[in-house]
Amino acid sequence: MAITRRKALLSAGSVLAGAALDLPKTTAAPQADLPASTVSLGDFELLARERMTAMAWEYISGGAGDELTLRWNREAYDRIKLKPRVLVDVSRLDTRVNLFGRELPLPILLAPAAYQKLVHADGELATAKGAGAAIMVVSTMASVSIEDIAATTKQPPWFQLYVQPDRGFTKALVQRAEAAGCQALVVTVDTPIPGLRNREERIKFALPPGIERPNLKGLSTAGSSHLPKENEIYNALFDARLTWKDVEWLRSLTKLPVLLKGVLNPDDADLAVKSGAAGVIVSNHGSRNIDTLPATIEALPAVAAKIAGRIPVLVDGGIRRGTDVLKALALGAKAVLIGRPYLYGLGVGGADGVNRVVGILRREFEMAMALTGRTSIAELGESALWQSQQEKNR
Ligand SMILES: Cc1cc2nc3c(=O)[nH]c(=O)nc-3n(C[C@H](O)[C@H](O)[C@H](O)COP(=O)(O)O)c2cc1C
Repeated sequence: MAITRRKALLSAGSVLAGAALDLPKTTAAPQADLPASTVSLGDFELLARERMTAMAWEYISGGAGDELTLRWNREAYDRIKLKPRVLVDVSRLDTRVNLFGRELPLPILLAPAAYQKLVHADGELATAKGAGAAIMVVSTMASVSIEDIAATTKQPPWFQLYVQPDRGFTKALVQRAEAAGCQALVVTVDTPIPGLRNREERIKFALPPGIERPNLKGLSTAGSSHLPKENEIYNALFDARLTWKDVEWLRSLTKLPVLLKGVLNPDDADLAVKSGAAGVIVSNHGSRNIDTLPATIEALPAVAAKIAGRIPVLVDGGIRRGTDVLKALALGAKAVLIGRPYLYGLGVGGADGVNRVVGILRREFEMAMALTGRTSIAELGESALWQSQQEKNR
């Protein structure tokens, strides 16, 4: 069957891992009639702003405080320059990465994000359908149950855990996620209390009727009575008492690898290894909790240096281009996660929108590899950057 130019363009994001860079001979194109203007992740953001409710837009796009870190997360990538090699045979690219004994076709995952029914009627189910080769990390606060999501994704998902003050409930939830087929447990450790979000306060953010938290069904928040009544800052769904001691307990609940999400400080990275974590995610929660943290790509090198290959390091925050993925891998990440971009894809085009966002990022990453003369992820180190970290520190 002849392939149309439009189909070829759409499918160009689906080059199989390890396959020759022969763009039109690729897997099925997404079916959505997405506007032709959506060729970059930034295009999805622009369109999402037009199409989403004001409530959803403020919730998703907003950051903590004055949103300085939100801006820095992006700007820090823009400042890093690439150092290409020429006359390298790049006719075959290998984007595969091995994480916890499983081979992923590409080093891109979908970061956990709560309440996806805010932007699409099918919510997380549409994301699960659209994720394709990207692993979906399912939020504790998902608006669809972990079981329904795990039954829909192509790759088994990972589960993100907000430890609940009710530890019995937390244990049952971890076991539920494992029984549903999740392949890793991502414990978010940067959110003992909710973040400072002025945009949500201004718009009086509230979940519209019909949007629920099925993973937390049956949870009684009575267990939060330990919280001091005089401090307004607490929320019964987050555990302000969570400490390093609990990591061992969490590990005892499951056979799954336990990753800690939200590590920025190299000393914490070291403690993560010592506490038996299987991996860390360098994250400032998409700058949604506290402002003036450093950009994650700035924090990554010191964390990676401290961990020194003992466990995998992943990173999220501000990744919007294939070149950003390459830079993160060059600075020590084994894989990256994206948050807002796929939510914008979901809002604009449901499962097909998510699929296109992943496809665009994948294609851009493959192009970045080819155009810097790197054919496999193992070749991505500081030599791919114009100024190495050591030179910068001098
Ligand atoms: C709307 C939204 C909801 C989020 N919900 C969660 C969540 O439930 N659990 C969590 O660990 N992180 C959550 N995050 C943070 C993301 O997992 C991720 O760290 C962040 O979005 C990455 O930055 P980026 O959006 O710039 O790609 C959320 C982020 C957004 C934008």
